[in-house]
Amino acid sequence: MAENAPAPGLHPKLQPLAFMLGTWRGEGEGEFPTISSFRYGEEIKFSHVGKPVIAYTQKTWKAASGEPMHAESGYFRPTGEGSLEAVIAQSTGLAEVQKGTYDSKNQSLELGSSLVGNAAKVVEIRRHLKYEGDELRYTVQMGTHTHEAQRHLQAVLKRV
Ligand code: HEM
Repeated sequence: MAENAPAPGLHPKLQPLAFMLGTWRGEGEGEFPTISSFRYGEEIKFSHVGKPVIAYTQKTWKAASGEPMHAESGYFRPTGEGSLEAVIAQSTGLAEVQKGTYDSKNQSLELGSSLVGNAAKVVEIRRHLKYEGDELRYTVQMGTHTHEAQRHLQAVLKRV
């Protein structure tokens, strides 16, 4: 596409997920039984180019100092009525294939890992995301070799 071509229209398959689109900024907190809890700043972008797929980029930083932390990127793809998949690559080298469902009325989605690759400790990742009252909220749960799936992250972001 030429660089100054008009913005592409939203693919009809993305209409139920349109609540995700945009640039979001906010704060979150991380925890796990094996680590000290921490607070972070975060920016998320969900974008599209007219195809039936949402591109995802995320970066985080230490809330106190602004020092860069974790980053990840990937693609969210609706696969049918109410179902979707995602592939996500993390800055730590871990790769995820996620499958799950979305609810366009509730403006939410839920994903569970069908594949976690190149991970030293992680065996399972679950992601929940919901748009409510102008805010995007998500949680990430993870299970490791030593601990059942439980919350590692939760954050609240606003559209910028
Ligand atoms: C620790 C995985 C996202 C910050 C950990 C650990 C794992 C992990 C396996 C070590 C737990 C242990 O030693 O028992 C993941 C996965 C993520 C994710 C799978 C995404 C799905 C994030 C994000 C941040 C973050 C977004 C920052 C905003 C941390 C910190 C620690 C940690 C600060 C503690 C490190 C330490 O004490 O050495 N994470 N993480 N993680 N994670 Fe995450």
